Amino acid sequence: MVDTASFKGRDIISMRDFSREEIDFILDRATDMIPLVEKGSDLLRGKILAALFFEPSTRTRLSFESAMCRLGGSVIGFAEPKVSSVVKGETLSDTIKVVESYSDVIAMRHPSEDAARIAADVASIPIINGGSGPWEHPTQALLDLHAIRTTKGNIDGLTIALVGDLLYGRTVHSLAIALRNYDVKVYFVSPKQLKMRDDVIKDVAGRLDYVETEDLRKVLPDLDILYATRVQKERFSDPADYDKVKDAYLIDSTFLKGVKRDLKVMHPLPRITEISTDVDDTAHALYFRQVKHGVFLRMALLALVLGAL
Ligand code: NCD
Repeated sequence: MVDTASFKGRDIISMRDFSREEIDFILDRATDMIPLVEKGSDLLRGKILAALFFEPSTRTRLSFESAMCRLGGSVIGFAEPKVSSVVKGETLSDTIKVVESYSDVIAMRHPSEDAARIAADVASIPIINGGSGPWEHPTQALLDLHAIRTTKGNIDGLTIALVGDLLYGRTVHSLAIALRNYDVKVYFVSPKQLKMRDDVIKDVAGRLDYVETEDLRKVLPDLDILYATRVQKERFSDPADYDKVKDAYLIDSTFLKGVKRDLKVMHPLPRITEISTDVDDTAHALYFRQVKHGVFLRMALLALVLGAL
């Protein structure tokens, strides 16, 4: 049985580590947090979150910080590794061993795929992965599921397209793995060069009803959720390769003619050219409301791993 004891002291590293019951439990706790955003709460008073961001971030870092503040806790950390001892050559393991003396939980983003696991291995306090290179971004997947469930009423039964950079986009890796727990139909829509990475395909095979395609227009009328992603420029070694695929899918209000009336367009943000601003004011746009779920979800996760619920 899943209860709060299942999460106390736990690391949040990969969606591969979570069952459907656990995911649903976290989503329920995120819903419980919604009234506390306005009312305020002392649930995490005296607790300290260390936010260690070795890669750029707006939403993930600020929503972790906002979540901690909403629950009465405090935040320390850095948003720029150049101001930390990393520039002097300190290893990640040493940084983590030090920071755990100053805090109760660490949220971390790092360019290396293994960073979150390495940190979790050395730390005695919970590590929450806020993005580990192109590998995974589990808290984003959870907030995406919470946004979907809140908007659509449930996740089972939906037809969902993950669109864009499925090779380097860590949000879609975590989301695809999470969705293998639900009764959904998923289209992986990408240019040939940016097909879903092999380890994700291997881990969803047999558990997720998915189809890989390059043709978004063809699947568009079936969709309940269109989840667009940015082509991850920073992961390309040759800028010419990036230029070839950067505008592979451009979604504007004209393109959306003929979709289901209640199709929701999602995006982890930041968007570059994937979604035109003329979609923003349509009933399809969920992306700016989606970000709010990051606060509810991260409030729930912090409270759970700190054993406060
Ligand atoms: C994403 C990320 O950092 O992986 N942003 C986010 O956390 N909301 C998506 C991206 O950078 O494209």
